[in-house]
Parts: sequence; C-alpha cells; structure tokens
Amino acid sequence: MQLKRWLTVGAVVLVAGGVAGAAPATASHPVDPSQQTLRQLGARHDLYIGTAVDMAALADTADPQYREIVSREFSTVTAENVMKWETLEPTRGTYNFGPADELIAFAKRNNQKVRGHVLVWQNQLPSWLTTGVDNGTISTDELRDILRNHITTVVKHFKGRIWQWDVVNEAVSDPWDSPPTLHYKGFWAQHLGDGYVADAFRWARAADPKALLFYNDYNIEAFGSGDPANDKTQFVYDMAKGLLRAGVPIDGIGSQGHLGTQYGNYDTLQVAAALKKFSGLGLATAFTEVDVRSQLTPGVQAGDSNEINPRLQASAANYSVLLQACLADRHCLSFTVWGFTDKHSWVPGWFSDPPEGMATIMDENYQPKRAYNEMKADLIYSGPPYVLPRVPASRRCRTGCSPRP
Ligand code: XIL
Repeated sequence: MQLKRWLTVGAVVLVAGGVAGAAPATASHPVDPSQQTLRQLGARHDLYIGTAVDMAALADTADPQYREIVSREFSTVTAENVMKWETLEPTRGTYNFGPADELIAFAKRNNQKVRGHVLVWQNQLPSWLTTGVDNGTISTDELRDILRNHITTVVKHFKGRIWQWDVVNEAVSDPWDSPPTLHYKGFWAQHLGDGYVADAFRWARAADPKALLFYNDYNIEAFGSGDPANDKTQFVYDMAKGLLRAGVPIDGIGSQGHLGTQYGNYDTLQVAAALKKFSGLGLATAFTEVDVRSQLTPGVQAGDSNEINPRLQASAANYSVLLQACLADRHCLSFTVWGFTDKHSWVPGWFSDPPEGMATIMDENYQPKRAYNEMKADLIYSGPPYVLPRVPASRRCRTGCSPRP
C-alpha cells in the first residue's frame, strides 16, 4: 500500500517535472557523458541529485558561481537552515516564510524538486519554546498543541511545493549516549514521550496528503556496525516497521550520510543491503545529507600532498559507496549532498577539535574534487548506454589478439 502510493506519486512527478537537458546518448546523438552535469546523469536513472542550499550564499551577488552551480548540477534542493523552527517561527505565532519561499521560487525557476527539512527536531528550536518549557509556562498539553500547530501551519503553507518532508529528524540515540541502550532522545521524547513520532507523521499527512513523509537520521547507513544489541540501524528499522504496522503514514527513510574518513565506514554491499532492507518494508529511501569529512592536521599547508591526497581519495570512495548503493536500490529516490563546496560547508564550524574539513565534492574555489568525478563515473557506468555487455573474448580474439601479455 505504502509502496504503491509513493511509486505513483514519484512517477507522476518525474514525468511532469522532467530534468533539464537530460538528453540520452544515442548513436545518432552522441554525448560525451563526462561533460554532462550530475543532474543530467542522475536523470538517466530517474535519480534526483540534490544539495543543501545556504540562503546567504545563494543571495550573495558577489558570488554568482554558487547560484549557477546549484541550478546547473542539481535536480533537487534542501534548505540547509531556513525551514528549521527557529527560522520559521522565531516569535510565537509569527511566521517568517520569506527565505524558504525564496528557495522554493528558485527551485521552480530551475525545475528542481524541494526536500522539506525539517518539521520535528530537537535542535535549532526557538528560545521562546525551549525557555517556556523549562520555566513551566508551557505545559505538556500545550506543548503538544504547539507541535501540532507548527506542523499543520508549515506543511499547509508549503502544500504542493514540497516533494519529500523530513518529518522527524534524529529521534534515536547513539550507542555512546546515556543510557547506553538505544532510546528515543531529545527534547520531544523527553516532554511528550515516544508517541510524538507517530503523531507528527499523522499531522503532516493531514496537512498535505501528497508530500512524501520521511524519517531522517545519521549513522543508519548499514546494519551490524558495533554491538548487535545496540544497532541504531536496526532500531530505526524496527521503529519504521512498528509505525507501518500501526497504520502511521510514513513513506520513506532518509539516511543522512554524514561520514568521516577517519572511521573507515562501510562498503557498497553493506549499504546496498541496508537500503534494500528498508525498501523491503515498502518504504522509499534517500540519501539526504551526504558529506565525507576528514580530520586535518593543524598547520598543514593546503598543498601538502601527503596530507591531502589520501583524504581526497578516501572521501571520494565514501561518496561512491553511498551513491552506488542508492543506484542499486530502485526505491532510492534522491541523493543529496549537504553543501557542494568547502566554501560553504557546516563541517569546519561544527567539528573543530581536532579540526575537520574537506567534506564536500568541490573545493573553496568551486573546483571539482575527485569525489565529484567519482559520482559522475558511478552515474555513467552503472548501466546502459555506456555500459554494454562485454564483447566475449572468444569473438574478440578470433582475428588474432592472442599473444598479448
Ligand atoms: C546543520 C547546518 O548545516 C548548519 O548550518 C547549522 O548551523 C546546524 O545544522 N543534521 C541535520 C542538519 O539534520 O539539519 C544539520 O545542518 C546537520 C546535521
């Protein structure tokens, strides 16, 4: 039932939305695929390639390249910050939809779909809300009403213009949290109990029946990492299964994909297996916030190849693992990077001790890194027309290619 729903919605949208300039290569119209953009190459697979958008960078008239690359390379966009509660409702009852509406208008002009991020999250909440709860002027009952109102108002405002909503974000703890057994964490679980997750999906569906509703989290790229009794991916899987069983309108699982090269991470088979397990429940999947950061040795010069090369290589390999896994799952709708240039990446500001960076697919000067080219190669070589069945050795060598070393 769930699967049928999003497949139908997805198909309509793909036909209606199209993807700019996605001319397939044919014998009569040869196209050098390496010259195509990510969005063009993704379109061959009906896969949307996205980026988070920093609205300040998009508005910066001194930096037209940022806008140009967002529109050229991507077929879906996510607001990096301007759909978060602290921006949308900075004062109780007063909404500030301007910046988000600007992004949606930009997306429309560029024939891009919009991922809505985010309805319910414990971070970037306005202080009137957190302070009110802390000092007791907002009761639990009132808090539930506030959440319902926020979801309803926001989803209705954007109705028909959002493709996928991240309804609930990062609700599950990590194995290193306290208590060490996995649990629902954060402000909302603490004050409303676990039931807020199901409520949020129901309220979102009521406000826009056509938007695809996602649960979104990090560290759920693969099953079986670490202690099996404390496997976050399994916890999210069980949660999704439970929500579906209870008739809660959830359509997809968003795997954020924030990786770091220092961790080793996963191989493609592990990640593909995880996506397939989620889609086996009848859910869509998506990579929603991919970046692959590296620890940087303080004081190292940008040109130090011993420092830079292995990090570039490892970062590219991780992008490739996630993208190939997404390509392997027919239900993986989109692959979104969390910023595309090191000029505008949240990583250096958030991971500073030790300093981390180099997380995106283009450097500070918008030069494509190896990760960008690997993504292209994955999109090019993951099926026809650029990968055709091998010419059998027996046929090739009939005219004498045998004494090759
Ligand atoms: C980050 C933004 O990139 C930063 O600019 C902001 O200061 C903090 O939030 N998971 C999420 C995103 O779901 O919303 C976060 O975005 C990154 C982690």
